[in-house]
Amino acid sequence: MSAPQQNRRIVLASRPVGEPTAENFRLETVPVPSPAEGQVLLQALYLSLDPYMRGRMSDAKSYAAPVELNAVMVGATVCRVVESRHADYAEGELVLAYTGWQDYALADERGMRKLGQLAHPSAALGVLGMPGLTGYMGLLDIGEPKAGETVVVAAASGAVGSVVGQVAKIKGCRVVGIAGGPEKCRYVVEELGFDACIDHRAPDLAEQLAAACPNGIDVYFENVGGAVFDAVLPLLNTKARVPLCGLISQYNATGLPVGEDRMPHLMVQLLKRRIRMQGFIVFDDYGHRYGEFFDTMNAWLAEGKIKFREDIVEGLENAPQAFIGLLKGKNFGKLVIQLNK
Ligand SMILES: NC(=O)c1ccc[n+]([C@@H]2O[C@H](COP(=O)([O-])OP(=O)(O)OC[C@H]3O[C@@H](n4cnc5c(N)ncnc54)[C@H](OP(=O)(O)O)[C@@H]3O)[C@@H](O)[C@H]2O)c1
Repeated sequence: MSAPQQNRRIVLASRPVGEPTAENFRLETVPVPSPAEGQVLLQALYLSLDPYMRGRMSDAKSYAAPVELNAVMVGATVCRVVESRHADYAEGELVLAYTGWQDYALADERGMRKLGQLAHPSAALGVLGMPGLTGYMGLLDIGEPKAGETVVVAAASGAVGSVVGQVAKIKGCRVVGIAGGPEKCRYVVEELGFDACIDHRAPDLAEQLAAACPNGIDVYFENVGGAVFDAVLPLLNTKARVPLCGLISQYNATGLPVGEDRMPHLMVQLLKRRIRMQGFIVFDDYGHRYGEFFDTMNAWLAEGKIKFREDIVEGLENAPQAFIGLLKGKNFGKLVIQLNK
């Protein structure tokens, strides 16, 4: 294989205040690095875009370090080994790596995992990867769903939510999704097999959700926060479980919401109904269970018990707009950038 000359990459040009804009990113072209002994040169085929990246653009204290200004935006990738100076990695092999928003990068064995003969390699970024693990472990380990219970999940058509709802169906639950718009809701019910799906933009969201959950809610998988949680809280049953996975409606917020302090009301409800709400960070809490998840999910996919949808956008240069859209619900399915073929 002839060595590539130029690497295109997107760096963090400035930190967003509120919604990210195109000016927060900069596309650069730099020389492709050469691998040292024990390293490989990777060419990225697919880049995963995920909501957590909004947090990395900020320098506010969080569970992970921020991306430095002028550094390459972080992200998981499916890559091909194009040059190898590592005995265990052959040219042409596919690996899962964390090379970020760029075409080429160096890696050693600590920074990549072999993908073998995966039928659909980009699935390693979604249903078989970090978002799938998140939905699977958050639901089963924290949500503890039992057959016959009612499970509600927000961002239901997305990478995490679609897994949560389908796994809950496999476990025998009644599953109600919440998603943005009729097309996503139709997909969630007709393709993914949820029992119902409510459009969170509907003015009577609370009434529709109550009608779809006549026995209340036993597990609410939280991806969104804000107005959706307001509609869910009155319906939570005694001993309900709330895996607190994400709060995407608040990621672009520049401060606390204005208005009355609703914390005392929330605390009273948690106490009186003995609701268990637990946050988790997927790789910190469940990285060690990836193998168990992968085997189960891979089998369910092969049996047709789990379906997935990808929203594939072509070209590194389109990653910033696609990411900005993700934070507004413009994606429909797992958002992936196709960088190379
Ligand atoms: N704790 C962890 O370790 C962990 C790991 C992975 C993901 N997460 C979290 O899981 C959640 C889902 O992530 P994902 O990767 O599966 O993304 P996704 O659902 O594929 O895409 C994000 C979706 O969020 C919804 N959304 C965006 N803004 C919203 C708003 N203001 N109000 C209501 N919904 C809004 C949109 O769907 P609609 O059009 O349907 O509204 C959008 O399509 C995120 O909160 C993410 O941060 C957490």
